[in-house]
Amino acid sequence: MTNKFIHFIANWKMFGDINSIKSLNKVIKFSNIYKKKKFSIIYCPPYTLLNLFSRKVKNTRILLGAQNCHHEQKNSAFTGSISAKMIKKLGAKYVIVGHSEVRDAGETDLLVNKKIKTLIDNNLKIILCIGETLSQKKKKQTFKVLKNQISRGLKGIKKKNNILIAYEPIWSIGTGIIPKIFDLDRKIKYLKNFLIKKIKIKNPKVLYGGSVNHKNITYLKKIDILDGFLIGGASHSPKKFIDIIKKTFI
Ligand code: PGA
Repeated sequence: MTNKFIHFIANWKMFGDINSIKSLNKVIKFSNIYKKKKFSIIYCPPYTLLNLFSRKVKNTRILLGAQNCHHEQKNSAFTGSISAKMIKKLGAKYVIVGHSEVRDAGETDLLVNKKIKTLIDNNLKIILCIGETLSQKKKKQTFKVLKNQISRGLKGIKKKNNILIAYEPIWSIGTGIIPKIFDLDRKIKYLKNFLIKKIKIKNPKVLYGGSVNHKNITYLKKIDILDGFLIGGASHSPKKFIDIIKKTFI
């Protein structure tokens, strides 16, 4: 993994306030001295911090992403929503769609698909999350679930080069449990094969997410075929987040 380009995505979920700028500053400083390695850091703070973070990351190698957006193209009367246009104007480059916590709150594959179309129209890049529940895993439905989430989410989409796929087994998110390396390696290979052959993405990028931390990264990085990590809890601490990045390249 040490020689390829790796994406590190920090998903802050519903955490962070004005003081979080200190945490970002530390990571900016680190990324400035760790210049030689090939990686990107994509910060996805809550909407309330996008503006502040956007001004801070200008002229650094850190990119900004939003955690969600409304599926409608035009700004309109949708109380409580944020459009792709608004996110784009703030200087963000990525938007997460299909996260299991958002799917849990009612986001369907159809909505994921609409959001992706809107994001592409607004020249934003996509982090598409997919993953199975524990009960689906036990019933051996994982591959079927993942294939459906990808096919339905990307239905009718022609421009597929700006999409990162984040495989996040739901039973792994926030639980401290990660898949067995052999099993994860097999799944990522299967996903890449499916993305190339059936979805016609030439060089698909697949990331892993779910309880990634500064300890288990030593194991996870053994999966050479991975293109990066989507990190929730451990990305709040600049020390742990930096540690994850450093250890990936050791
Ligand atoms: P976690 O979250 O790293 O806290 O498990 C990952 C995610 O939900 O994206």
